[in-house]
Order: sequence, then structure tokens, then C-alpha cells
Amino acid sequence: MATSPTKKRVLSGMRSTGKLHLGNYVGALENWVRMQDQYDCFFFIADWHALTTDYADTSLVKENSVEVLLDWLAAGLDPAKCIMFIQSHVPAHAELHLLLSMITPLGWLERVPTYKEQKENIKDKDLGTYGFLGYPVLQSADILIYKADCVPVGEDQVAHVELTREIARRFNGFYSGKRKYVFPEPQALLTPAARLPGTDGRKMSKSYGNAVMLTDPEPVLRQKLKTMVTDPARVRRSDPGNPDVCPVGDLHKIFSDKETLAKVDAGCRSAGIGCIECKGWVADAIVQVLNPMQERRKKYEDNPRLAWDILEAGSARAREVAGATMDEVRDSMGISLGYEPPRSSSK
Ligand code: TRP
Ligand code: SF4
Repeated sequence: MATSPTKKRVLSGMRSTGKLHLGNYVGALENWVRMQDQYDCFFFIADWHALTTDYADTSLVKENSVEVLLDWLAAGLDPAKCIMFIQSHVPAHAELHLLLSMITPLGWLERVPTYKEQKENIKDKDLGTYGFLGYPVLQSADILIYKADCVPVGEDQVAHVELTREIARRFNGFYSGKRKYVFPEPQALLTPAARLPGTDGRKMSKSYGNAVMLTDPEPVLRQKLKTMVTDPARVRRSDPGNPDVCPVGDLHKIFSDKETLAKVDAGCRSAGIGCIECKGWVADAIVQVLNPMQERRKKYEDNPRLAWDILEAGSARAREVAGATMDEVRDSMGISLGYEPPRSSSK
């Protein structure tokens, strides 16, 4: 897990939300697993970020971090290929967050689209906190402290990477001194997001209760898919349907092979197949994806210590890299840790 001088560095994070669902896999994790072979990858569990909204009851944060980690390992993130760590074990993120907060204009934060949106949509918590407003600055620190070249994210996070670039530019402008610059500007790598529908046809999301979890045993998965909404025009078995307007059809496009897709398309449009049959086929395809994950997960579920050790080793490595950046940051700001004699000795 040595960091490589030639490969581009990738960094991304996930909040400690607990067990992951199929949408998290298709939207992010699957992509990360591919990336670990090509890039110098740092993936972290953003447990402090979870606190920006879940600050009142923190009882599940740690448990949720472990669940995320188990799903990462299940999905195939490999400690021999990438560095997995947890934010709260690398306190330098907080130091950089503080320093960046000094130079970040309030207006930049108030303009972040997720800020207004979430403040309006999340009514059961008071999000009028300092930490919530500043959370994109913390995210900028997460990214800049590893000098990441690329940040794979979904569409909702692109504005945060853009803000990170602006903060980097501002920092470089103020402090770079004899260095050309301290922080490279990171690129957002937009994850080709197949919007995965949940069982009710809305975007798959834990909070909607429409999600298929990566840990769902086969019978649970099949049951969930059975209840999935279909093309509303297909009321009776004899009514023809259209897989292009059916959430089950969308799942087929993501998980099924060409032959099955052709069967679904022809069978649905001619009313030659029933929806139950069609859902059974997509369940078959998803089982093929989940089975090997659940198999890999067992080893860590039986011995979570093993998973935690991976996270601690990754966090130790992350602290080294982050520590080196912080030395440069302090140095460029003129607040390095070493003793320096006073510049003008006043008699
Ligand atoms: N804010 C991201 C989310 O809610 C998680 C995150 C935190 C992140 N820090 C990051 C993602 C740094 C990419 C890079 O999903
Ligand atoms: Fe949807 Fe399949 Fe039913 Fe067609 S046959 S409406 S694609 S579930």
C-alpha cells in the first residue's frame, strides 16, 4: 500500500451512514474498486462529517463507521491496493480545517447549493450551526491535505470540489512564498451515475425505506423486488408494458446481460412475460453481484477486529501523508513548529 510517485492520487470519502445499499455500490463503490488498480487511492470514512447533521445523538456513529467499512471490504476494496482510513483518526484534518476557515469568505459557504437545500429539507434538526455551514471547508481540508489530483464524487458533491479549488487558489495566493504553490487544484471525477431506482420507483435511498441493502439475504432481496413498482400502464397480465418507463426495466439495464434485456424488452412490450417473472430475472442478476460480497463480508463479520486493524493501519499511513502536508502548510504560513530566532533583535 505504498503511495506511488507516478500514479495520480485519488481521494474520496463516505459518511458513516451504516450499512450501504445497492445505490451506494453502483453510484460510488463499484467505481472505487475499479480505481484502486489504476490510481494511488485514499478512501476514508467521514465520521466527523456525520456529526454535522447527527450531532445530538452520536450513539450510532462508530457502529455505522464499522458497517461502512465492512461493506467496503465486502465490495472488494483491498488494503493491499488502497488506503482505507477514518477521518477522526487523522486529527490533522481538523487543524487544516481551522486554518482554511480563516481564509474562507462566508459568502462562499452560504452560496453552496447543498447548504440551503438541506437547511430547508431537513426539518427535524437545527442545522443553523457553525459546523454545518463550515462542513464544505472540512471537506476541502480532507481533499487538500492529501494533495489529491482527482476526487470521484456524485453530482451533488461537485460544488464542494469546486469550492475546494477556490480555497486552494486563495491559500496559494496568500502563502505560497518561495514554493510555486502548496496545494494542487483537485479535479472532480463525476461518477457516471446510473440513477438507481428503489422499490417505490424513487431514487434508492435509505431514508425512503426503498433500498436493497448489500447485506440483504437472497430471500429478502427477492421479496423486496416482488413489491417493486412497475410500468403503471401494465395493470393486467395481458396489458403490454414499456421497460423504458418501468423501474424494474431500469434495474435490468444496469444488472442484466444482453440476452435477458432482449427477452425483457420483447416480452414486456408483447405482454408475453409477466412482471413477477421479469422481477425474478433481475433478482437473479443482483444475487450474482451480492453473493460474492456477502461471502467476503463473512470473514470480517466473524472477526470485526480484522477489519478495524485494516482501518487503523490505513489511518497511520494517512497521518504520515497528512502530517507532511501540514509541515508545508505551517511553514508557508510562517507558523512552523521549530524554533526560529527573532528576526529583528531589539537591543
Ligand atoms: N461530503 C461527502 C458526502 O456527503 C463525503 C465527503 C467528506 C467527501 N469529505 C470528502 C467526499 C472528501 C469526497 C472528498 O458524500
Ligand atoms: Fe416492468 Fe418487467 Fe413488468 Fe415490463 S414486464 S412492466 S419491465 S416489471
